[in-house]
Amino acid sequence: MDRSNIQHKYNHFLRNALFKYKFCKRDIFLKIYKRVPKQRDATFSYCIDFLINRPNIQIAELGTSRSFVDGKIKEGVCINDTIYWKPESPDKWDWSAGLFSRYFSEVLKSRGKNDFKITSIDICEKAIAISKKINENFIDHIEYKTCTSEEYIRNQPRKSLDLLYLDTGDMNEKTAQLHKREAELLIKYQIIKDDGIILIDDVRNPSMILNHKEQSKYGKSKYSIPLLFNNGYTIIIDEYQMILKKKINYHKALEKVKKKDKKRFGKLKQIN
Ligand SMILES: C[S@@+](CC[C@H](N)C(=O)[O-])C[C@H]1O[C@@H](n2cnc3c(N)ncnc32)[C@H](O)[C@@H]1O
Repeated sequence: MDRSNIQHKYNHFLRNALFKYKFCKRDIFLKIYKRVPKQRDATFSYCIDFLINRPNIQIAELGTSRSFVDGKIKEGVCINDTIYWKPESPDKWDWSAGLFSRYFSEVLKSRGKNDFKITSIDICEKAIAISKKINENFIDHIEYKTCTSEEYIRNQPRKSLDLLYLDTGDMNEKTAQLHKREAELLIKYQIIKDDGIILIDDVRNPSMILNHKEQSKYGKSKYSIPLLFNNGYTIIIDEYQMILKKKINYHKALEKVKKKDKKRFGKLKQIN
């Protein structure tokens, strides 16, 4: 695929961001998962390639960017003071959190896309203000909503999203419960297009296992992924993040073809 320079540059930051943390060293990944899963650069790029030829792309991000600087920089983390925002120094940005809206808006634009909209949702006003600053040059493509992820899902039109990014909360049981409720609502309200995808962050983040003695290897997605899997979704990418898409219901698809054939046959009969 034709990646732009900016995509290469940001991929480099994403590829290395998490290994700098104590709980995300390569040997820890190997010990827990028996492999070092590909990082966000791989799954973000997969999503960009998936989106690039689609018209009028609709994306939603649950949980927006909340810090001007990366957690490993001691000063300024999650503080809404623009003194900490260094637009010319991307090496200082919060790549450990992903910077989804910045990555997707800038990379899609750099690859010639203009017909896309990202809706970024957060419960916290401060996070929204920080994210707006980070994305100030791409604001035409981003709509912000201050509400809970659950409210957003309930009010979104059916089958309207090409890509939904699940990234609310932190690495703990409370967030696992929140993701469970989000998954239940996604199943009920069906806001993703039949050929759309769900991207889930931090599935294979070792900190749930190391800090909270969690048994499941799916971390904060331990309830949501099985729920989605048992209700019409299948896993297509299984790395640090996971990507899910709707299973094709062959029985339903066959019924549709049969119906169409019946209509055609009916018409032919009339002509004869
Ligand atoms: C890890 S950050 C998101 C990082 C961001 N997606 C990025 O790529 O940089 C998680 C965010 O989820 C938000 N959050 C937590 N609970 C939420 C809820 N119930 N509804 C909406 N947002 C929530 C937090 O305020 C926080 O800003």
